[in-house]
Amino acid sequence: MGIPLQLLLVEDSANDALLLERELRRGGYDVTARRVQTADEMRAALAEQTWDAIISDYTLPHFDMPRALALLRETGVDLPFIIVSGTIGEESAVTAFRSGADDFMTKDKLTRLVPALERARREAQVRHERRQRGRELEAIAALTTALRLAETRAQIVAAVLQQLEALLKAEGVALGVADPLTGETLVELGVGQAAALTGQRQPPGDGVLGQVIASGVPQVGRAGNVNAPGRGDILAPFRPAAWVGVPLIAQRATVGAVWVGRQTPIGQDEVRLLVSIADIAATALHRATLYEETQRRLERLTALRTVDLAINASQDMRIITDVLLAQVLAQLEADAAALLLANPVTQSLEYAAERGFRTRASARAPIRFGEGYAGSAALERRLISVADLRASDRDLPRGYDLAAEGFRSYYAMPLMAKGNVNGVLELFHRAPHQADQEWLEFLETLAGQAAIAINNTAMFQDLQRSNTDLARAYDATIEGWSRALDLRDRETEGHTQRVTETALHLAENLGLSTPELVHIRRGALLHDIGKMGIPDSILLKPGPLTDQEWSIMRQHPTYAYQLLSPVAHLRPALDIPRYHHEKWDGSGYPFHLRHQHIPLSARIFSVVDVWDALRSNRPYRTGWPDEQVLAYIREEAGRHFDPRIVEAFMELDVARLPVTEM
Ligand code: C2E
Ligand code: SIN
Ligand code: SIN
Ligand code: FE
Ligand code: FE
Repeated sequence: MGIPLQLLLVEDSANDALLLERELRRGGYDVTARRVQTADEMRAALAEQTWDAIISDYTLPHFDMPRALALLRETGVDLPFIIVSGTIGEESAVTAFRSGADDFMTKDKLTRLVPALERARREAQVRHERRQRGRELEAIAALTTALRLAETRAQIVAAVLQQLEALLKAEGVALGVADPLTGETLVELGVGQAAALTGQRQPPGDGVLGQVIASGVPQVGRAGNVNAPGRGDILAPFRPAAWVGVPLIAQRATVGAVWVGRQTPIGQDEVRLLVSIADIAATALHRATLYEETQRRLERLTALRTVDLAINASQDMRIITDVLLAQVLAQLEADAAALLLANPVTQSLEYAAERGFRTRASARAPIRFGEGYAGSAALERRLISVADLRASDRDLPRGYDLAAEGFRSYYAMPLMAKGNVNGVLELFHRAPHQADQEWLEFLETLAGQAAIAINNTAMFQDLQRSNTDLARAYDATIEGWSRALDLRDRETEGHTQRVTETALHLAENLGLSTPELVHIRRGALLHDIGKMGIPDSILLKPGPLTDQEWSIMRQHPTYAYQLLSPVAHLRPALDIPRYHHEKWDGSGYPFHLRHQHIPLSARIFSVVDVWDALRSNRPYRTGWPDEQVLAYIREEAGRHFDPRIVEAFMELDVARLPVTEM
């Protein structure tokens, strides 16, 4: 077996062709030859397969050497080209070399053929390599230019993939990296047909990208070979005829891999070019990553300093929390954040500030320690993270509209200072969020700073103070009073508790804030405290009241005010006891206030009070059926009641469902 040689002969004489072949065989070649005699035949032969060399006669009946060379240039193929002719003049020899022939000989000097062919092939190879290097240099220059304009990692990745797609005329190009936390292969970007892969992941070492990243060795393949993207490979949807995966190696570490797929075979030269480009890309990416990390660290340091300054410059909790939450959103790339303060007496968390929510902050009820994510973070004193809230079976705190907000990942970070949990920081991301070590460390640092800041603010100290034993004693006293009041008339028993709960519910739906709700609760518990001053003979009278009795009964809101106003702690809660018998149209008592002049809490409460009074038995009448009560409430909208509040009341479950008589 000799050296294989695919030979294209441009020759009219079959005999001459045989002589040439025999000479080459003698010289050690295993010749496969095809003879062509016209331009069309030659064109067809060039299109059909690749050739190692052309040997051409000088003139043929329907063709000649110069036209054969012209055709070769036209098709862009560079092959060793040797002319073998009968006899030939000097002029023709010059023409032959000018046209680009590699050598020229007469038929009687065929012993020169083999050395001439060998030299011609070497020269063609050199020409080919030079051209190839030129193309590579151009490609690399284009990439370098593109990279000069790219600043961020994302821009570099995009530039590299676009260059590769154009340069290799690829169907699809993808760049994969190993996720530093999970080791999973993450497609950072795909272009062309691989565009849909962007952001997809697969287990470490799986698939072509994972194997190349794990081994650091390029893989070249064709459809159907063992390394072809198989089942489970994220590249499996693509079935290109040829593909190659090369590692991205920076500082001896494989930081990722690039995959290129296309419909035509990928040559060794192209693989080599791809490896060069991957080297440049890996270095650029490494630099960009270092730069971005440095930049991020600097920004985070600045952020800490900003929060520090705010803490030192201000005792105002609102300013501190604004600065803190702004830095949390910017530096931790969160879409929304909320700050909850711990109330150690009630063992609950109260919403203090929030930022980044799309939906209006409705009144958010306190969360007991251990309840929900935030409550667990406080109780267990550890970071709670939820990768996908939509897949979670646990409820978010009431008041978050998950669907409208579109949140995906969630973090609840306890804020601890001096061994105490001062609060919880909640973070929300609308896109899936992967925390890395540095992110977690910065979260801890910010949380620590926030905890200290909170500890030192007047607002936090107030919150702690307002829930001292004294405050609890007040609340216990209030509840005791209201129970005693109900007990005085056995038939109103439970009335106060029911109206208090229902009024709170209604006020919350109307968007009142937590501090307002606290006052509504106390006001509702105490609304009829003034009836303490009404004699039994009137209060418990089984029939209608006389004018005289009515004038006493109508004093009960004023008695309540007189009784409670000396207690500073209760002053903000006095609107309900004082104004709960005012009517929207001004026909109520004791002040005949109308419309918005009646405090909102009293307007809310009066609807609930009348509703519950009518459903209950009284010494002066028996309770009404629910339908009649609701019809009455509706009827009185715009007369006794604020119509907007009646509307909100009708939305409540208590107003919709039949409730058993009490
Ligand atoms: P309450 O029994 O707690 O009733 C609170 C409010 O519910 C009443 O305020 C009134 O607006 C409404 N309400 C209660 N029962 C009825 C009713 O049968 N018909 C209608 N249309 N509304 C009703 P109001 O009227 O200012 O009364 C304040 C308080 O005066 C009542 O508190 C109750 O303690 C006393 N009271 C009112 N009417 C009578 C009565 O005829 N006999 C006696 N003994 N006490 C009465
Ligand atoms: C807010 O951040 O101001 C809303 C919290 C609340 O409802 O009290
Ligand atoms: C208010 O919300 O305080 C006034 C609106 C009204 O009751 O009409
Ligand atoms: Fe009353
Ligand atoms: Fe009442």
